[in-house]
Amino acid sequence: MVKAAMQLVNLKKTIGKKPIIKGLDFEIRAGEVFGFLGPNGAGKTTTIRMMVGLIDITEGDVLIEGKSIKTDFKGAIQHVGAIVENPEMYPFLSGWKNLKQYARMVKGVTDQRIKEVVGLVGLDKAIHEKAGRYSLGMRQRLGIAQALLHSPSILILDEPTNGLDPSGIREIRKYIRNLAEKENVAVIVSSHLLTEIELMCDRIGVIKNGELIAIEEVKGTENEELLKEVHLEVEPLETAKAFLETQLANEVGVDGKELSISVKREEIPHILKGLVEQGISIYSVRVMQATLEDKFFDLIGENTIE
Ligand SMILES: Nc1ncnc2c1ncn2[C@@H]1O[C@H](COP(=O)(O)OP(=O)(O)OP(=O)(O)O)[C@@H](O)[C@H]1O
Ligand SMILES: [Mg+2]
Repeated sequence: MVKAAMQLVNLKKTIGKKPIIKGLDFEIRAGEVFGFLGPNGAGKTTTIRMMVGLIDITEGDVLIEGKSIKTDFKGAIQHVGAIVENPEMYPFLSGWKNLKQYARMVKGVTDQRIKEVVGLVGLDKAIHEKAGRYSLGMRQRLGIAQALLHSPSILILDEPTNGLDPSGIREIRKYIRNLAEKENVAVIVSSHLLTEIELMCDRIGVIKNGELIAIEEVKGTENEELLKEVHLEVEPLETAKAFLETQLANEVGVDGKELSISVKREEIPHILKGLVEQGISIYSVRVMQATLEDKFFDLIGENTIE
């Protein structure tokens, strides 16, 4: 079992009489990048505000490194770095001075540590320029640097790519992956756009109307051996099916005039060669590529871009 950096335990929030968050139960693993995906109004920000103690929890709890944010706020929050609203900074001070200013409020942050976090978010070159001159993406990264100063084990970013252009989004993605790997920080990134987060996340949890409706591992790193669904239009069908059954460990499906098999990509040529050698005619080969987008589309619906 991978250790949990954070656990949500039957977490609920009611505002007035309206249930906003309806019992969330999941955990964030140490060192993973976790995407918190949901359409506008799904309850991402409300959940995050409870995670960091900005609003009261109606029922349930959030445990950070095993410490309850409700009953041991100090013990829990010391492990967290977060940007919930726009990162606050002094525009007339340099990035470096902003970090120094912030470091004064946190125990034990050395200049060495400041240099380290600046490097982690790739601001080395611009760090002595005034923060007011930073682009939105750079401001976002300075905010991340600030949130990292006290070496938290979990970093929470509410829609960090909001308002960024594609290159800004790419940068943020790169630095988030980088720091998950280099600092072993668990990162929670919320977003209403799957395409923005799927490339940087290890897992994605989908929230809608205050409920978690799916939680998925994101596959597809280069060395991952994913099974692909391959559809083959072949003749004669029965002979082909019988042959494939001798070759493959898993089932051979029949769909009209087509057979469907699940194989690794590198097995495809071998399978086709075998069929040809058996005197079977191949009319078409289709490799189905189900993306996460297809998978989540039904879940979150169409209106996620606003
Ligand atoms: N203080 C409040 N009073 C009443 N309703 C609220 C309050 N805060 C949030 N809500 C409602 O709770 C729901 C969830 O809001 P929340 O801001 O958490 O969603 P979100 O997933 O962060 O959305 P977005 O993608 O737009 O940021 C919404 O229906 C919102 O109107
Ligand atoms: Mg929000």
